[in-house]
Amino acid sequence: MKKSLVVAAHNLPKEGLEELYKHCQVVMLAKNASFSRSALLQKAKHADAIITHVEDRVNAALLRALPNLKIVANYAVGYDNIDLKAVQKAGVYATNTPGDLGISVSEHAMALILMLSKKILEGDRFMRSGKYKAWDPNFLLGNNVSGKTLGIVGAGRIGSILVKIAKAGFGMDIVYHDVVPNRQIEKEYGAKRVSLSDVLKKSDALSIHVPLLSSTRHLIGAKELNQMKPTAVLVNTSRGPVIDEKALVTALKAKKIAGAGLDVFEFEPKMAPGLAKLTNVVVTPHTASATIEARKQMGEIATQNILDVLVRGVKPRNSLA
Ligand code: GLV
Repeated sequence: MKKSLVVAAHNLPKEGLEELYKHCQVVMLAKNASFSRSALLQKAKHADAIITHVEDRVNAALLRALPNLKIVANYAVGYDNIDLKAVQKAGVYATNTPGDLGISVSEHAMALILMLSKKILEGDRFMRSGKYKAWDPNFLLGNNVSGKTLGIVGAGRIGSILVKIAKAGFGMDIVYHDVVPNRQIEKEYGAKRVSLSDVLKKSDALSIHVPLLSSTRHLIGAKELNQMKPTAVLVNTSRGPVIDEKALVTALKAKKIAGAGLDVFEFEPKMAPGLAKLTNVVVTPHTASATIEARKQMGEIATQNILDVLVRGVKPRNSLA
């Protein structure tokens, strides 16, 4: 029997995809400078499934061009790149990869908080420039994280893991803002649900974990940044447009907050003008989920969703609609 065709828009790590290779014909499109959307349309013309990531826009036009398509397996937790209405209308399933990937992302958020609080990158740059001549007790003074207040905006799966790390590892007090209460983190870690304004005012470190929706676009802008402590650090590993990046640059320049750690950008892969020049900023190229463990699990989850549809003929386990 002819195997179903699965086209991945990126050159994915093979770990976690073993079963997919067993049951399907898998084609990977290495995404590089020469990759274009037309290559995806061309290579995936007869695809039964495609594997996409956040920068691959899945819209009505794409769906029209891929008439055999039965499932779009997003290789990500977030799925703001997928027009769910168009997918439903086309009778195609869409899935994401929730799972232990949350550990990788929350560890990354904690790493950014620590790097900013302990001025690790500034120290690293200083060392590499050969400027270290004598120890100076007043130099690069940061802030302890232990016993301080961590604020979470969006206390879902990833935010909750960060709460656990911050509480168990650093004894941080936790405040969070979410439209839905999270009783588990309240009970286990004493987290307090407060208004957005209070989370901004109380946090020494503020970490963003909301999905990108029309209600969360520019959730953090000039007005919100002005409410934060001048000693606070802001970390974003969710989606860039949740923060008004231009307003963030202005706030950082004016020392309205002490620093920012960003893994995602409003106009990714570009950074807002001026951001890269600031020393109180740590930036990473959307690598919060980049661990061997997380990638393997993302592959396994995407595989099982695709096999649900193409081999088992059932609704995929992580169906988004
Ligand atoms: C990555 O950004 C993800 O949503 O998994």
